[in-house]
Order: sequence, then C-alpha cells, then structure tokens
Amino acid sequence: MCCIKDAKFIVPAGDFGDICPVFGKGFSVEKPVRSAVAEISALGVYEAHLNGERLGDFVMAPGWTAHHARQQYQSYDITARLQAENTIEITVGDGWLVHNMNGHCADLPWKKTIRQPVAIAAIHLEFADGTAQTIVTDSTWKVSKTQFLSSKLYDGETCDARLADVRNWEDVAVYDYPADVLIPQQGEIVREIETLDAVQILTTPKGETVIDFGQNMTGYVQFIPQGAPGDVVEFDHAEVLDADGNFYNANYRRAKALVTYICSGKKEPYKPHLTFFGFRYIRLRQWSGELKKEFFKAVVVHSDMKRTGFFECSDAMVNQLYHNVIWGQKSNFLDVPTDCPQRDERLGWTGDANVFSKTAAYNFDVEKFFTKWLADLRADQRPNGAVPDTIPALSYREHSSAFWGDAACVIPWEMYLAYGSRELLDASFESMRMYVESMRHAGSSEFLYDTEDHFSDWLALDGVYDDNTDGTNVRYRKMLATTAFAYSTEILVKAGEALGKDMSEYKALHEGIVRAFNDHYVVDGDLLYKTQTMYTVALKFHLVEDKPLYAKRLADCIRANGNRLNTGFVGTAYLMDALTENGYADVAYTLLLQKEFPSWLFSVRMGATTIWEHWDGMKEDGTMWSDEMNSFNHYAYGAVASWMYGTMCGIRPDEKNPGYQTIRIAPVADDRIEWARASLQTRHGLVRSGWEHKDGHTVYSITVPEDATAEITIGNETKTVGGGEYTFIQ
Ligand code: BGC
Repeated sequence: MCCIKDAKFIVPAGDFGDICPVFGKGFSVEKPVRSAVAEISALGVYEAHLNGERLGDFVMAPGWTAHHARQQYQSYDITARLQAENTIEITVGDGWLVHNMNGHCADLPWKKTIRQPVAIAAIHLEFADGTAQTIVTDSTWKVSKTQFLSSKLYDGETCDARLADVRNWEDVAVYDYPADVLIPQQGEIVREIETLDAVQILTTPKGETVIDFGQNMTGYVQFIPQGAPGDVVEFDHAEVLDADGNFYNANYRRAKALVTYICSGKKEPYKPHLTFFGFRYIRLRQWSGELKKEFFKAVVVHSDMKRTGFFECSDAMVNQLYHNVIWGQKSNFLDVPTDCPQRDERLGWTGDANVFSKTAAYNFDVEKFFTKWLADLRADQRPNGAVPDTIPALSYREHSSAFWGDAACVIPWEMYLAYGSRELLDASFESMRMYVESMRHAGSSEFLYDTEDHFSDWLALDGVYDDNTDGTNVRYRKMLATTAFAYSTEILVKAGEALGKDMSEYKALHEGIVRAFNDHYVVDGDLLYKTQTMYTVALKFHLVEDKPLYAKRLADCIRANGNRLNTGFVGTAYLMDALTENGYADVAYTLLLQKEFPSWLFSVRMGATTIWEHWDGMKEDGTMWSDEMNSFNHYAYGAVASWMYGTMCGIRPDEKNPGYQTIRIAPVADDRIEWARASLQTRHGLVRSGWEHKDGHTVYSITVPEDATAEITIGNETKTVGGGEYTFIQ
C-alpha cells in the first residue's frame, strides 16, 4: 500500500528566489512490476513527469484547500510507464500558498507562511514476486532550478525556454509540515476543457497589437513562438477594450497577469504551466518574427464538471445572457468557487458562492465540487461557528458577514435538493447548526443578528448609504443580516427534519426571529427600509404575513424605478422568485427583458460574454464605472439563470423528495417571448420542459424521466404523473 504520509515535505535547501524548483529522484526497477502508484502533493502547484512524460492532466494540482487541515494529493498509476532506470521530476510553482497570495491578505495565526515551493511524494512498487518497495521524498532527493524564472498566481509566468533541459542538482531540506493533513483527491479534477481560436489580431488606436479570442474566459494562451534564441515574447491580459478601443487592464489592479517567454529557437507550441488568467484579449508587448492568428489559441481551464442543464428561448439577447452565466461558471469554478478569475483576488468568496449555488447546480453537476469546498468551509469554520469571508480562509473575524457565512447552510441544502445527497447534508449539519448558533450569540438578543460588520446587499444601487462607500448604513445592514439569520435558521430546521432530528428548539428560534424582525424593522405597517432587496427578502424568507401587500410594494418600487432593478448581490438572487411566487411574473419578465441600465441585458447590449460584477461595469459610452472593483467575470448576478430553469421553464426539485425523485414542473410563460425550453440531466434521468405560443394558445411540452414522478402545474391545475411525454394546451 502506497502511503504518502510516510514521506517528508521537501524544499530547496538554498534560496531559489522566484525560480520554480524541480525536485527529482532516479530509481531502478530490477524485477517485474505488478503494480506501481505515485502519490504527489505540493505546497504550491505542481506538474510531475516520469521519464520525461507528464503524469495526469490536472492543471494547478494539487488544488486549493484549507491546507492547515486538508491538503489533497493525487495518485497516478505508473505501472505501464516504468523502465529499468527511471527519473521522477516534480516542478512546483507558487500557486495559492507560497508567499501568501502575493501578500494580498493578512496571515492567519494558525497558518504558516510558506516562502518557497514545497513537494511531497511517494512511489510504491509491488513486484510480481510479492515483494514491495516504497520511494518517498526525503533528504536524498535533489532539487534544481528550472526554466520557470517565476510563476505566480496573480503576476503570471516567466519562462526561459533555453533552460528547459538544464538541471543543476542541489540539496533539499526537509520542511516541517504535518503529513497527517494529507487527504486523497476529493474535488473534481481541474483540466484543459476546450480551446478557442484567436478571432482577430487588432491594431488599437494607440498602435498596440491586441489579439481577441472572442470570449471572456479562464485559462491561458498557447502560442507558437517564431523568434530566434534569446528573443522575447511578452503579453498581458485584458477582459475588455476601453471606450476608444484600446487595451484596458487597469481593473486587474495589482495582478500583472503577464507572460514572458524567452525563445529557444524552437517553433513548438508553448503555454504557461503553473498559473492561469482571466481574459478575452492579450496585448503583445513583444513578439519576434511572423505574426499570424493561427499561432495563438486560448485554452479554457476549469474543474471538470459534467454539464447538466441547457436553456434556450426565442429571444437572442436572453440566450446571450444565459451563455454569459454558463461562462461565468466555467471561469470561476476552478477547484474553488471564485469571485473572479483575473484581478488580484480570485478567492473563494462565500457570499458569491452562496447566491450562485442554486444556478450552479442546474448548469453543471457540482455535487463533488461543493462536497470538497464545504469540507474546507468546515475546516476553516471557527470554534464559535463563524464562517470566514473566503474559503479557503485568508483572514478571520469574530462574526460572519450575513449572506456570506450563510453559504454554510444554503449550499448543503441546495446540494441536497439538487442531488438528494443525505450524506453531504449529514456531514454539514453540525456546521450549519454552529453557524446559526454563531448568529444567535452575536446579536443584541438571541433573535436579532444585529452585528455591524456585513457586506450587506453588496454593490446594490439602492442601499441606504452612510457615505459614498459600497457599505450600507449600519441599521440597514443589521436589518438585512437578521433576514439572513431567519433564512439560515429555516434551512437548518428543514435539514434537521430531513435527517430525522428533533428541531423544535430551532423552530422556536425561527419564530422568535420572525417576531423580532417585525418588532424592530416593521414600522407603521411597512418595512423600515423600503428597498427592492428588503421587500424581496422579506417575501422570500417568509418574514411578513401580508404577502400580497408586500409583493405589491416590491412591484411598485420596480415600476417607480422605470421598470428596472436596483438590487445588489443579495437581492438579485431572490428578486425574480419573490415577484413570480407572489403574482408578479409580468414584472419579473419586464426585468428580464429590460435593456436599459441597470439590467442584465444592458451588459449583453454592451457586448458582454460573461456576467459583470457591477451593473454599470462599463457605461453606455464605453467608459468604466471605476478601475478598482470592476470585474467583467463575476458570476453572482448570473443567479438569474435559476429562474430561467426553475420558473420560465418551471423545473424544480421537491423538498420532500429531493434529487428530482419528484419533480415540480410549473412553467410560467409570457407573451413577450415566443418560446422557451430547458432540459436538466438529473440523477433520475433527463427532464425537459418548454412552451411555445401557437395559434393563440400556449403549448407546453414536458418530458418526465421513467425513474421519477412529476407534479405538473399549468395555470391553476396540478397533476401528478409518472415518466413520459406530456403536452398541455392553454
Ligand atoms: C469580491 C466580491 C466579494 C466581496 C465581499 C470583493 O472584493 O470580489 O465578489 O463577495 O469582495 O464583499
């Protein structure tokens, strides 16, 4: 049995500066081998080669976890690759761990700053004669500098191709790190998934050479250098061009996102190895020789999740919006769910993952992806139950931000609904309970989560602001945080009941929160703050009794705002449901089809190929709202796609019979769209639901898989059916 836990973590004994080390070992195989396995991990990111051939295809291995508690290793079957004399080499770049994310965030007290890339490996050989041998990393291994003069998550990679085969072996030192944190690969493998051709080579008004790949994405550019030995290829990355059509990357902030390549003279394709970029364009700062767009390809990299959901309708702009949501997920599900893939951030922001998780589980099968990330969340959760802002955590504070920490409750629940996974719900239950307890003990009473420090309805346009920052005023924040407390407590109760637990204590807590919300934040029969988001969450989280009245107020707010939304990260996720579930489907459709700022289709009209962080990331005249917080690839507002699947086409899981064992199908059509259809590959088979206006009627076509039952609601009629094809005409 191979056991990487018997190996030592090793690091260069000398100071390599920024140069990536390659750790190596030669070994002989003298007898016939029955089976051979290599287990490898790194503090940093690695690529391993056996006898010059790459092991596996994991990009950014070993991935990113709460590494103080959980550090993934990968296993490779090397039986067929062994020779009499073998060399294993493990090249390690900085990745997420070395130098602590370029000093982006404060060091955590329980973590150790890692100053140089570290590797650990074990090779286990079982011979045909029944004997075995294990080779583990230890002080007998050697290390050499490589052609990778630097490789950093934010700044990019520098490669001197002339040094590709040069090895000057030096001593390693054993690095003091606990091997008991090592765990086998748990998440999805991150892979090169597809490639995009360069669409065109532009010369911008400034005279710069820019290559457009036509799609904002995550990965890297593969190119075929044309230069002589010593010539340099250098390019940086951008998501958009500015108002004048010039290359624009000020929104990458401190992330240089730069590729520098010193030619060896060989015209062989090259791509960065140990980092990634978020981009649509590159600017060639240096290039030698002939320039043809055929020399460039964009390689799309993300966690290899299976696509499960598809949506299409008669409106080309809505289809583009849906396309942008899919690319938002592809771009930001790279081992952890990140806020954005390009600037000096790329962190597992919990709030973003929270609001997008339902949509994520329609688009792709994300059970394995979130099972891993939730284990990291639990590992980083504090003893008082608080959940850090990002997972893996880079900083810690005493109380969680509402709607960010709530990822602890919402995501296990969404996974349970989508996949019926009791196991994950069970594994998460204590973390959910502790999170609710952390809110219960933090506020001025056990029923109010009225701590002050919350991201609130992040980037909302109608928040009630103290000043000109993104933060809303303190009382607004407290009110909104209390709605999150109610929501997570409600989920905890449902989760506990699904697991057969007595939840009476938390039911009483939930009732207390609803009462306290009404006592504190309902004044003269209306909400204290009358924003779209407040009405939305009050409805969605069952905080107000007279739903028709509050739904009308929400609809009125939207109409008064010129039929446009105003919501931020929180409100946007629930707005469309709050409207449709309370009789205002027409208003929801108006928002969906709105093309003026602020709206989803505004960004589509401006040429977006992914979801923007800000409603006005780019303004009508092509200028930017700001350089500071302006990602063009932030999936949070893409949460609208769950409404396309779940309401337009009406495919939803059933809480009592999750995982689509029972499917709730209740499509809601609108005259402004001629037809819409969605399909979803569930654990119980393929569901389809669509509608079309024809000859003055609406024709609904529904497919229920053989292995499921469905409750189909069309208009006011509900029918329970088994597997089969159904048509309804209204
Ligand atoms: C990130 C967000 C995140 C936020 C916290 C930002 O810098 O990009 O998406 O949720 O910080 O409010």
